[in-house]
Amino acid sequence: MTRIDSSTPLLPRPTSSPNKAARRRYLVRALSRCLFVIISSVALLAMVVCVVLQESSSRDTWIRHPGAIYNASGQPDRMIIANSHNDEMQGSNALQLALSLGYGFIEIDTYLGKNPDVVAPSTSQSAFTFDSANPGKGNDNKITLDMGSGSESGLGLGSGLDPSFALLAGHDLKDLKSQRTLKKYYFDPLLNILDKRNVNRTSGSNDTGWKGIYENDSDKKVTILIDMKRDGDLIWSYLLELLHPFISKGYLTTYNVSSSQWSHGPLNVVGTGLTPLSKVYHSPIRYIFYDAPLTKLNAPFDIPDSIDGPAVRNVQWDNTISPTASSKLPLRYIVSSFFSLGRSNEGKGMCKLKELHSIAREKGIQSRWWGYPNRPNWLKVRIWNLLWESGQDILNTDYLVQSKIWLDDRANKTRNLERC
Ligand SMILES: *[C@@H]1O[C@H](CO)[C@@H](O)[C@H](O)[C@H]1NC(C)=O
Ligand SMILES: *[C@@H]1O[C@H](CO)[C@@H](O)[C@H](O)[C@H]1NC(C)=O
Ligand SMILES: *[C@@H]1O[C@H](CO)[C@@H](O)[C@H](O)[C@H]1NC(C)=O
Ligand SMILES: *[C@@H]1O[C@H](CO)[C@@H](O)[C@H](O)[C@H]1NC(C)=O
Ligand SMILES: *[C@@H]1O[C@H](CO)[C@@H](O)[C@H](O)[C@H]1NC(C)=O
Ligand SMILES: *[C@@H]1O[C@H](CO)[C@@H](O)[C@H](O)[C@H]1NC(C)=O
Repeated sequence: MTRIDSSTPLLPRPTSSPNKAARRRYLVRALSRCLFVIISSVALLAMVVCVVLQESSSRDTWIRHPGAIYNASGQPDRMIIANSHNDEMQGSNALQLALSLGYGFIEIDTYLGKNPDVVAPSTSQSAFTFDSANPGKGNDNKITLDMGSGSESGLGLGSGLDPSFALLAGHDLKDLKSQRTLKKYYFDPLLNILDKRNVNRTSGSNDTGWKGIYENDSDKKVTILIDMKRDGDLIWSYLLELLHPFISKGYLTTYNVSSSQWSHGPLNVVGTGLTPLSKVYHSPIRYIFYDAPLTKLNAPFDIPDSIDGPAVRNVQWDNTISPTASSKLPLRYIVSSFFSLGRSNEGKGMCKLKELHSIAREKGIQSRWWGYPNRPNWLKVRIWNLLWESGQDILNTDYLVQSKIWLDDRANKTRNLERC
């Protein structure tokens, strides 16, 4: 240790009173800065904890949602503009739950896997095993797809699809079970409901006169979002095959590219995730539409040359390709909701969101955000508020009952959709 005696000129010592005041001011400023840093760090830490909690909770998949007991057999009074995100995670009555609450959008995570309805070849194993690491590449089950043959009709039906594969509902590979097929859990029940609702309809492919899924909102369409988790090109053909009965009965909304004509039906199908945009674009009749990127709706896109068709440059997003658009909500909106900064109608974030929603609305595209934390609840609801007030069309939710009640609460409320 070195001794410092009072004569050592280490720091200029304030001696007079004005200097003392300056020093006090300096100290106060330093202290408040310190306090600010500490408070921000604590807040940031809390946010990180929230996000981690949310991450760990989302690992618990294929859950039976407690909301499943909510009026599950009843008829909703109206359709709500909300998306049941990862619907298959709501349990084995997932579709029934979403329909009992009036959901207008139902999103299913989709993989291609082994189909249990097919008797395995006699030489192979007696018990069904699902090769979860390689659902699209079974060693003794080559998938041969006649990609080209669909192009005149727009359908790839009966064209070499391997019947030992089927579309499976599940968020992660570990959730996939051979029985959890899209056909069994979603498309068979939907077809059944629509058949019952339309028993009195005479013409098969007439786009008027149909009745929608919801008795009390029978002119409304329900949109099924297929989130292709992998193998989009393969899933495409299997999905078209599943849609065939809907198409032949006129239940599906379709768009004829050469005549620029819509045929409206009670069901819309939109692909998300790894849905191949070039297949949507080049289909002469569009049966499956594409969930566009919400933040880039004003940026034209290019389609590269592929087996689906030639390269196309500078295509504008419109609702004949994408009736819906979505993006992951950028972190800054989550942070500003956390600090409650985005609550004023004039906030910068609010204005940006309003602009994006307006761009979508002007194109006839419905907007939706995803990827914000579900926990804590107050933060989630604050984000719902921010998105609703700024004009988002479709509420994306994992909490079906809570969102239904929350939306009912807003049913007759108006919001200012003007850009600012
Ligand atoms: C079921 O629906 C009825 C009629 O809409 C309503 O009165 C009742 O509160 C609902 N049940 C629950 C558990 O919310
Ligand atoms: C729904 O419609 C049915 C008849 O189609 C009617 O009996 C019922 O009261 C309606 N429910 C609501 C909640 O409006
Ligand atoms: C079909 O028509 C019959 C006889 O008119 C009627 O009783 C029945 O309610 C109708 N079904 C539907 C789903 O509209
Ligand atoms: C479609 O169905 C409606 C009602 O069933 C009927 O009035 C109309 O003439 C049909 N249109 C065509 C083009 O078949
Ligand atoms: C699509 O439009 C073209 C041109 O108008 C027409 O020839 C064709 O039959 C239509 N296809 C369907 C399935 O309606
Ligand atoms: C909302 O408005 C509709 C008609 O526009 C009305 O039937 C309904 O009762 C209203 N709901 C509430 C909660 O005020």
